[in-house]
Amino acid sequence: MAISTTVTTQSITGIFDLSGRVALVSGASSGIGRHMSLTLAAAGAEVIVTARRIDLLHALVAEIEAAGGKARAIALDVTRRQSVQACLDTAAEACGRLDIVVNNAGVSNTKNVLKYEDSEWDAILDTNLKGAWILSQEAAQRMVGFNRGGSLINVTSILADRVTGGVGPYCAAKAGLSHLTRSMALELARYAIRVNAIAPGYIMTELNEEFLRSPAGEQLKSRIPSRTFGECSSLDGALLLLASEAGRYMTGSEIVVDGGHLCSGL
Ligand code: NAI
Repeated sequence: MAISTTVTTQSITGIFDLSGRVALVSGASSGIGRHMSLTLAAAGAEVIVTARRIDLLHALVAEIEAAGGKARAIALDVTRRQSVQACLDTAAEACGRLDIVVNNAGVSNTKNVLKYEDSEWDAILDTNLKGAWILSQEAAQRMVGFNRGGSLINVTSILADRVTGGVGPYCAAKAGLSHLTRSMALELARYAIRVNAIAPGYIMTELNEEFLRSPAGEQLKSRIPSRTFGECSSLDGALLLLASEAGRYMTGSEIVVDGGHLCSGL
C-alpha cells in the first residue's frame, strides 16, 4: 500500500511555533543562554530564565515583556540539586507545565593540563556535566508527571568531539554531556521526552569578543572553513527545530553549528 504524504501551507507554517509551551533556560544571564531565551519567547513560549545572578535576569524578563513575550526569572545554581528542585517546583507551580529545558549553563578555564587543580576540574565538571545531569533528571521526572512529553536540549561544543590545548576538563565535560544526551534519549523516549544537543563552534559573545577579535582570534578564524565566527543567532534554527514540533521525530541527535570547523580537522 502506498504511503501518502500531504504537505500544505497550513501543515508547514507554524511548525516552529511554541505558543502555549513553557521553556526553561539555564545560564540565561548572559551570552548564548540570554539570546536563546529571547528566541524561545519570540517563538511564543513562556520562558523561565534562570541563573545565579537574578538582577540580570530581571532585566531580561523586562526585555522579553517589552517585545510582547512572557517570561519569569528564577534563581538557579545547577550544581546544587536543592536549588534545581526549588527552581523547578516554583516554575511548575507558576506555569503548570514544563515542555522545554535548555541546559546551557557552562564554565571554562584555560590552563596547561599539568597545572589544573582538582578544584578547577570539579568546578568545570560540576557545572557543564553534573549540572546538566541534575537539571535534566529533575526536569524529566516532572515532565513524566505532567504526561505531556518534552524536549531537553543540551548545549555541548565541537570540543565534545575534537580537542584543543588548555581546556582538557572542558573537553571531557562536553564529551560526557554529548554521550549523556544519547543515554537519556534512549530511556526517556518511552515518555515522549526527546533529548538532543546543539554543538556550537566559536560563537561571539560579550565574554569572548575581545579574544576573538585579537590576532590570536584571527588566526583561529583562518582555520574555520567559512572564515567567520558564529553569532548567538546562528543557533536559532537548531534551537527552534529541537524545541518544536518540527523536530518531533528527533531524539539522541547532536546538531553541529560551526561554520565547518569540525569537518576541517584543523
Ligand atoms: P557565558 O559565560 O556568557 O554563559 C554561561 C552562563 O552559565 C552564564 O550565564 C553563567 O552565569 C551561567 N552559569 C555558570 N555557572 C552556573 C551555575 N552553576 N548555575 C547556573 N548558571 C551558571 O558563555 P556562553 O558563551 O554564552 O556559553 C553558553 C554555553 O555555550 C556554555 O555551556 C558553553 O560551554 C557553550 N558554548 C559556547 C561557545 C562559544 O563560543 N561562546 C562554543 C561552544 C559551546
